[in-house]
Amino acid sequence: MTLSTETKVNEIALSNPQARHILEDAGIDYCCGGGKSLGEACLRANVPADEVLRQLRRNAEQVGPSEAPWTSAPLAELTKHIRERHHQYVRDAIPRLRALLAKIREKHGSNHRELGEIEKLFVDVARELLMHMQKEEQILFPFIDSLERAANGGEPVETPFFQTVKNPIYSMMREHDSAGELMRQIRASTNGYKAPADACTSYLAAYQGLDEFEKDLHLHVHLENNILFPRAVELEAKAV
Ligand SMILES: [Fe+2]
Ligand SMILES: [Fe+2]
Repeated sequence: MTLSTETKVNEIALSNPQARHILEDAGIDYCCGGGKSLGEACLRANVPADEVLRQLRRNAEQVGPSEAPWTSAPLAELTKHIRERHHQYVRDAIPRLRALLAKIREKHGSNHRELGEIEKLFVDVARELLMHMQKEEQILFPFIDSLERAANGGEPVETPFFQTVKNPIYSMMREHDSAGELMRQIRASTNGYKAPADACTSYLAAYQGLDEFEKDLHLHVHLENNILFPRAVELEAKAV
């Protein structure tokens, strides 16, 4: 891959984990906004494109060619990885973060008014994500797995109630955008997850936890939007 400001952000994100860290640190959205060019994404994130490009080029020299195992691994392994690694992480993190956010809002809410808003935004994103993951696990992922089994010579797939895999994928991608936007608002309200000088340990833990939650969501959505979903659409097109 030749790196330039014209290179698509999702291609860069697919190249290696370190490239994703560079994009993440620059505040560049590589999952929902992955179809944009690096130049455009830098403009949106208000970061100098030449500096980001310099870091990415240096990283590419150090790490060599793409790792990207998920672009060729069986899709059933990828859906399993997403469920076990990312969905489980979200389910574990939500109660922990909700408890921390309620605690710091009670203790520090009078001095830090934004804590009420941050808690409300997190309750919203948590509710959306829990419903979203349930739809993926009960409807979309089993259908993708069945497409793959059919492609490998198993039972042919009957037309599902949603007609084509593109329909639930479209809904899931809209829901990703919505969750991504809520996390962006949380990031803005927390000043980029920077706790104030008078923050206690719980305050620091809550902000650190939210930062980690957003980073995990980016990787999770990247695996779905940029790898799983396009591969599922391709598989379905071959099957009919
Ligand atoms: Fe998911
Ligand atoms: Fe998803």
